[in-house]
Amino acid sequence: MTILRSQVLGCGAYLPSRIVTNAELAERVETSDAWITQRTGIRQRHIAAEGELTSDLSLRAAESALRNAGIEAGEVDLIVLATTTPDETFPATATRVQAGLGMTRGMAFDIQAVCSGFVYALAVADNFLRVGQARTALVIGAETFSRILNWEDRNTCVLFGDGAGALLLRAAAGDGGSHDRGVLSTHLFSDGRHHDQLYVDGGPSSTGTAGHVRMEGREVFRHAVVKLAEAVDAAIGQNGITGADIDWLVPHQANRRIIDSMGNRLHLPPEKIVLTVDRHANTSAASIPLALAEAAGDGRIQPGHLVLMEAMGGGFTWGSALVRW
Ligand code: UT7
Repeated sequence: MTILRSQVLGCGAYLPSRIVTNAELAERVETSDAWITQRTGIRQRHIAAEGELTSDLSLRAAESALRNAGIEAGEVDLIVLATTTPDETFPATATRVQAGLGMTRGMAFDIQAVCSGFVYALAVADNFLRVGQARTALVIGAETFSRILNWEDRNTCVLFGDGAGALLLRAAAGDGGSHDRGVLSTHLFSDGRHHDQLYVDGGPSSTGTAGHVRMEGREVFRHAVVKLAEAVDAAIGQNGITGADIDWLVPHQANRRIIDSMGNRLHLPPEKIVLTVDRHANTSAASIPLALAEAAGDGRIQPGHLVLMEAMGGGFTWGSALVRW
């Protein structure tokens, strides 16, 4: 049976030039390089310059993905941009990227699922492509998380960074088997009862300010391990594969210990897990596409490889995507 699949044409990334080390943060709050490294695996993060907006980061990542794929912006029908830190309350940051790329047609909108945002955006774009409502899609994850951090709260300010990554997809015919190239499955979940464990204490309808991140880290950690396992099991179950079939685990990069526990669960050796948390920290919706761009760019991820992505974040939201590259 012939079906439409969303095949990967290329990917790209952009990181702000300014790097902030753990040692630099230890001068601002009561923390240490040893604590941050041991508890999270983070050694540094990139922070956007003043006036450098989420749309700027997104545009650079999108241009790099288009170059990588050899595609003109005019061929793109759809931009889905996952972000928690849009330039403005409205319009969608995706429309600024659309204009920045010189596009005069197609559709562009944002998705908000915090750290799961990229997996959500990928699922939405995949569904548009599979029903034929678009042929070519740019899926972007981009954040300037530094703008919603309380730089005096050591529980949160050491954990996050800024950046953007983009994936270019095009609908192509497949026979429906797991050897097809393209997005094989996406699984999305949310449970709004967990609001208080991870949220921002502001917004246009509540305080009229952007607010700051608040997190009960230990609780989020405890739930993350269980919920990510649920998302990963859903992907494996639906596709009739085992951990041994996975070429690359590309997880959301929140904490090295969470990533290791997922690797152990899948019996994956460390060299099959793409890690960027040490250099990027947690870039929320940008972390997976940044990791994809790095591993595809340096030749680790090759056409035909099976790539499993998973993420969990505020809401709670969580999910997985299985892609034959
Ligand atoms: O991407 C969205 C999803 N987010 C996540 O997945 C994050 C999940 N959570 C985590 O990654 C971890 O829970 C954290 C890294 C946030 C915290 O690590 P932890 O091992 O769970 O530490 P904890 O929260 O239990 O805190 C242990 C101690 C506390 O001190 P007391 O109460 O034991 O005296 C904290 O006050 O560490 C203290 N602490 C710090 N110490 C130095 C918290 N933050 C810091 C810090 N530097 N930056």
